[in-house]
Amino acid sequence: MKHIGVLTSGGDAPGMNAAIRAVTRKALYHGFKVTGISRGYAGLIEGDFRDLTTSSVSEIIQRGGTMLRTARSQDFFYEEGRAKAVLEMKRAGIDGLVVIGGDGTFRGAAYLNALGVQTVAIPATIDNDIPCTDVTVGFDTAVNTAVEAINKIRDTATSHERAFIIEVMGKHNGQIALMAGIAGGAESILIPEVKFNLDTVAEKINLGHLRGKIHSVIVVAEGVGSALEIGNELKRRTEQEVRVIILGHLQRGGSPTAYDRLLASRMGAKAVEFLSEGTKGQMVGLQGQSLVACDLNLVLSQKKNIDLDEYALAEVLAI
Ligand code: F6P
Repeated sequence: MKHIGVLTSGGDAPGMNAAIRAVTRKALYHGFKVTGISRGYAGLIEGDFRDLTTSSVSEIIQRGGTMLRTARSQDFFYEEGRAKAVLEMKRAGIDGLVVIGGDGTFRGAAYLNALGVQTVAIPATIDNDIPCTDVTVGFDTAVNTAVEAINKIRDTATSHERAFIIEVMGKHNGQIALMAGIAGGAESILIPEVKFNLDTVAEKINLGHLRGKIHSVIVVAEGVGSALEIGNELKRRTEQEVRVIILGHLQRGGSPTAYDRLLASRMGAKAVEFLSEGTKGQMVGLQGQSLVACDLNLVLSQKKNIDLDEYALAEVLAI
């Protein structure tokens, strides 16, 4: 291993910059050359490369987004695009690649491994929907952003005695909704993994209102359907005024928390260690306190489950 390439792909996540910095500096420490690839797999196909030095990654650890930019490249899902990417890497002399992103990014990494490119992945997505790792880079920051928003909404909900539906991100899973809902003290949490009944949600709001509860906060994961429609349904079934807010991409931005910076730094350094040891086709995962290697094809074939005990806890605490 002499020359490592690094790219970020898919939805950005706070902490991606800290991961790029760690990959770069750890690789330079080992005497490897480092190339930054712009706009994920799109830049790989186009040969949009630049040298990364210690100073090119200074002043980024605290920044959200990704200095390498990101994209969701469709061309990479065609053989022709992938062949061009391999050619560009060969031309530049890159012999190992670190990809930073979520499941779409990992599918690309698996393709590259199959084509003989030594590739290692770092899980970075606010969704925390990647199996084999307790947590992904960016999740902690997104949860904190959502909780901060819930706190603010609660102020106005209390003042106006309203129920608020707060939609958080998570197209296919309720990880952000569950964690932000528990930490934000939500009355109900609606996630795709658990069946729910709007009559029950409405009844909870009405009963709470009768008991003197002056507001209700309902956290809804994007994946359960339209928050606006849920809001309309609850308007019909409750005696409280209902408002809906969609937090959307707010959750993807912002300075990463210390937790995300540490996780990204550790995972970035570990990815370089894996490459230097000849490991390929693996993702760096965090299990407990340890960083482990997870087979990418296995990661792609599994689904991360929600912790149902935590969901039950949320229900108990919301009484
Ligand atoms: O995967 C991260 C994520 O933020 C999801 O939670 C969300 O559904 C999706 O990306 C939004 O994607 P885009 O930025 O392409 O609209």
